[in-house]
Amino acid sequence: MTSDLRIINAKIATDRGLVYGGLNISDGVITRISSNTQLENADHSINAEGKLIIPGVIDVHVHLRDLAQAYKETFKTGTAAAAAGGVTSIIDMPNNTPPANNLATLKTKINTCMQNAVVNVGFYSGLPEDINEIFKIAQIGVFGFKIYLNNPPPAINVLDSRVLRDIAVSVSSSNSRLLFHAEILNNHTKMADQGNLDDSEIQDFLKLHDPLAEIKAVKYVLDALKEVNVRIHFCHITLPDSIKILRDKGVEGLISIEVTPHHLLLDDESLYRLKGVAKTVPPLRHKTQVEKLWETAITFENADVIASDHAPHTFAEKTGDFSKTLPGIPGLETLLPLMFTKVVEGQLPLYKLLKLLCYNPAEIMGLKKRGRIREGYSADLVILDYKKEYKIDPSRFLSQAKYSPFEGFIVKCKVDKTIVNGKIVYDSNIGVIEEKNAVILKPS
Ligand code: DOR
Ligand code: ZN
Ligand code: ZN
Repeated sequence: MTSDLRIINAKIATDRGLVYGGLNISDGVITRISSNTQLENADHSINAEGKLIIPGVIDVHVHLRDLAQAYKETFKTGTAAAAAGGVTSIIDMPNNTPPANNLATLKTKINTCMQNAVVNVGFYSGLPEDINEIFKIAQIGVFGFKIYLNNPPPAINVLDSRVLRDIAVSVSSSNSRLLFHAEILNNHTKMADQGNLDDSEIQDFLKLHDPLAEIKAVKYVLDALKEVNVRIHFCHITLPDSIKILRDKGVEGLISIEVTPHHLLLDDESLYRLKGVAKTVPPLRHKTQVEKLWETAITFENADVIASDHAPHTFAEKTGDFSKTLPGIPGLETLLPLMFTKVVEGQLPLYKLLKLLCYNPAEIMGLKKRGRIREGYSADLVILDYKKEYKIDPSRFLSQAKYSPFEGFIVKCKVDKTIVNGKIVYDSNIGVIEEKNAVILKPS
């Protein structure tokens, strides 16, 4: 028997432990994992020279913006960034222009994506104006319905718990899930401008999005939906107290908690220093909260998923008068390098990182036979050079967003190759290789 591809001399991170050897791939699927000598022949062979093979990252929170906001990011540039970052599957958010909360727009997005993506892409829907549409939208294979409590849709009052319950019942009976941006913003009066204008604008912004806004939203959702048997994914949770409430009051198995690298690794000092470039919502928190978030989410394993919340804007939109800058941080090319650096530094065991970046996202979103390195699973893989260090240089990003609050950070690994459905789509010596091999993901 010959296979399509053979990788030898690797250290393979399977979910049952490290295997020293290699693997075979045929028709996009891993067909054998074994010592070098037990492998099948292949049409193509790669010598991994001792590098690590991990499952490709599944990033469940990405904004690719294509269609009317292609000037910020497209399926082509966004998925190229994903490939360069070792991300082999992403799920795209609906807060676009036009909003992706209806069948027509979602179908247009899927078609445009199919022609351009180099990694696998799935979609979320926004809330349709008529909640009777939920069932039809769920049927085309979206991964859930996203609700922005910080920016509620004009047509539906999601801050009315009876309305939210009705939505949740429809979502649940469509066998789908709800996703929340969990912030109910505070009414607050602007502070008198004093001293540095940017600093007082940053303080106003932080006041508007203060920790209570997140706590209030988390409590509201849990309380409003306590009797509905619906799966709920909480996006970018930033506070240890939110996690405690979710774990105490949420129904196990129905609730999933996502955290991001920027909320885990940066604090509000970055915001004062980098201003718009570090602006995101929910905002970067105070150092003491950030340290406790790591402990609660990662050390005590209360988070389910780490996602990038890749939210690209143009550089002009991120600079200038702080109050007018747009929130959002590009993260597809830094997610894996930053988090794997914690593994190299001994602060995070590898199996825990793979749970957060690969195993749990696949399980939570219902991605069958992805997210793990096993025979019979899709060959979505990253060959990682864990002996190479480099400095994050956003000018080299493949994303259109060429800035980052992580600029200058030293990371202690480098994506050498990214493989999607058995084909190499990124090689650090070549760049993106357009294989047109990616698929549109649907929940199983
Ligand atoms: O900072 C953010 N940017 N938070 C969000 O919830 C939306 C996102 C965006 O789409 O730019
Ligand atoms: Zn959000
Ligand atoms: Zn987002």
